[in-house]
Amino acid sequence: LDRKVRQNNQESNNFINYKKMSENLAIVRSRLNRPLTFAEKILYSHLDDPHGQDIQRGVSYLKLRPDRVACQDATAQMAILQFMSAGMPSVANPTTVHCDHLIEAQVGGVKDLARAQEINKEVYDFLSTSCAKYNIGFWRPGSGIIHQILLENYAFPGGLLIGTDSHTPNAGGLGMCAIGVGGADAVDVMANLPWELKAPKFIGVKLTGQMSGWTSAKDIILKVAGILTVKGGTGAIVEYFGPGTSTISATGMGTICNMGAEIGATTSLFPFNDRMYDYLAATKRSEIGDFARTYAKELKPDDGAQYDEVIEINLSELEPHINGPFTPDLATPISKFSEAVKANNWPEELKVGLIGSCTNSSYEDMSRGASIATDALNHGLKAKSLFTVTPGSEQIRATIERDGQLETFEQFGGVVLANACGPCIGQWDRKDVKKGEANSIISSYNRNFTGRNDANPATHSFVASPDIVVALTLAGSLHFNPLTDKLKDKDGNEFLLSPPTGEGLPSRGYDPGQDTYQAPPPTRDSVAVAVSPTSDRLQLLEPFPAWDGKDALDIPILIKAQGKTTTDHISMAGPWLKYRGHLDNISNNMLIGAINSMNGEANKVKNFTTGEFDAVPATARDYKSKGIPWVVIGDWNYGEGSSREHAALEPRHLGGLAIITRSFARIHETNLKKQGMLPLTFADPADYDKIQPEDKVDLMCTELAVGKPMTLKVHPKNGDPAFEIKLNHTFNEPQIEWFKNGSALNTMAKAHAS
Ligand code: F3S
Repeated sequence: LDRKVRQNNQESNNFINYKKMSENLAIVRSRLNRPLTFAEKILYSHLDDPHGQDIQRGVSYLKLRPDRVACQDATAQMAILQFMSAGMPSVANPTTVHCDHLIEAQVGGVKDLARAQEINKEVYDFLSTSCAKYNIGFWRPGSGIIHQILLENYAFPGGLLIGTDSHTPNAGGLGMCAIGVGGADAVDVMANLPWELKAPKFIGVKLTGQMSGWTSAKDIILKVAGILTVKGGTGAIVEYFGPGTSTISATGMGTICNMGAEIGATTSLFPFNDRMYDYLAATKRSEIGDFARTYAKELKPDDGAQYDEVIEINLSELEPHINGPFTPDLATPISKFSEAVKANNWPEELKVGLIGSCTNSSYEDMSRGASIATDALNHGLKAKSLFTVTPGSEQIRATIERDGQLETFEQFGGVVLANACGPCIGQWDRKDVKKGEANSIISSYNRNFTGRNDANPATHSFVASPDIVVALTLAGSLHFNPLTDKLKDKDGNEFLLSPPTGEGLPSRGYDPGQDTYQAPPPTRDSVAVAVSPTSDRLQLLEPFPAWDGKDALDIPILIKAQGKTTTDHISMAGPWLKYRGHLDNISNNMLIGAINSMNGEANKVKNFTTGEFDAVPATARDYKSKGIPWVVIGDWNYGEGSSREHAALEPRHLGGLAIITRSFARIHETNLKKQGMLPLTFADPADYDKIQPEDKVDLMCTELAVGKPMTLKVHPKNGDPAFEIKLNHTFNEPQIEWFKNGSALNTMAKAHAS
């Protein structure tokens, strides 16, 4: 294990550290003294403190040291802006950035890419220059989708990766523990702080038998989603095992892990096997495959490893499935689908079939899809529905161009889009139906929530394997079952489509296509980061001011929010996403979805200095300009939803001091602490009712100490005598420093400067 094997072919100084991992694991084994699952081995071998870390599934918070960080272009902007404000010369851990989310599908790959480069120029320039400056690998627009690039280049068995995108688990197809996180977590690892994860539970999926015919890897996860539902994997890692695992290609395993995000799983992964070795070899990483073989006994679960739940799937009996509409866990086997379409009145005509995305754009997927298209073309048939193909990477695109699948798709009537997310993330200028018109589409993607693909709430979006998508596109109808239903050829003769066939790996090797990677330059001091001061999409971050060391007296309540206040209420998505890299602009959405308990309305609060009602962000800005800090009062589970760090950055930017609630969603609570705010909870949740929106409060910040409550003195507006209530918090010593210094990053910067 002493060998120096590089993590990938792009970076010369980052190595796979199986030796350290096995040492850490030995320490944890001697403490736990029980068999471990594969994912447990990966996590525990990456512990910051294997001796002292408390380890209880579903209870403890693990402090981890990931091997890598990856960001996509939409989330990378704020992550890098924050990292910059820590004042470090380069990232502390290997990091890459991938341009894939901002390319809109309109007419086809080349033109769409050129247009995106123009529209997003300032964002791409910023990412390119900041990556060069801080030693981050940069994958330019056109290179492909983050998860495909990670699988092709960076994933390795037994590694721990965090990525600022929910489908990061795709790398589980190469036995990597790959977890989707928010930008704030990525910044921690870039800045060398340990990364915290609640110790997960483990769901085992035992695969037996072997797939054949029309069944493919996608059907395994479609079936699992049906069993576990969209919430079933919450707080758990899904680990596949059993003899069936070695019958699936590495990219097929990637597909399964990728869509594990749809059941809320922390991640999913497969144990290291020969199929992974073959994929590593095909992508010019045999040395990693050989190294993994020397560590193979730790790249699978121990005999007798205990799972919190086990489900079993016999692949020999598994039918192709179609999931949806509107939710990825409504799973219907193909033999029952036509019935379901009738029973539910789903629009029967299939308007569009879309293949590709990070979930299903491997060489195998493309080859199988093309084999169906070829069969159809040989019978004189083409796609009836509109048909699009999104290659997952430039390498896939170039390889299927060389090997003919791309031409087959075009002859079949397909439009080949840019190597990017495109319609999967709503980057789709769809023209064939009007907004509000009920219609059906089917894709090989992973998510199908209302409006996700085309912003039309009446679009019924289904997900299936690329094989099923191509077959249904050919028939133009949701009633078609290619396993049993015949089609008519150009002469009117009936025929049954042949089941798909296709190589898992290209026999002539991959064609890398155009070089779309930008390595950081060896000397980076002179690189200037491009941010135009007049940009409305990007803004450099100023460090937040340190705490003034005083109690905050007689300050207002900006809003007393009632009921659900999710991160969407605090920092809405949709059109605001455009401003992800511009804190001041995006702050204009702060809390605009929260319901004011005073009037039951959203985005209408009273400014106590003027007596006027105004929007929440405008009121906060007014207080800030007058030097008045403010607090928010919130209800139960405040900040649930996503890990979006903007929901914590915005109140801090607009002058907030504390968020006082009945309870917090934990990630949001931590994010608030990182930004130098005080997330506090009522010691007695009933005290929420004692405070009125127009009351003023004194917050005794000087009392902040580990394990001690803080005092809030309330001055009722109605003239009643002032009263005190107790507030709890979960700050530890280092986090108190964050508050005192103004933020976690200020603390890092201070440590760095000294
Ligand atoms: Fe992109 Fe869709 Fe995957 S948005 S990263 S292709 S889930």
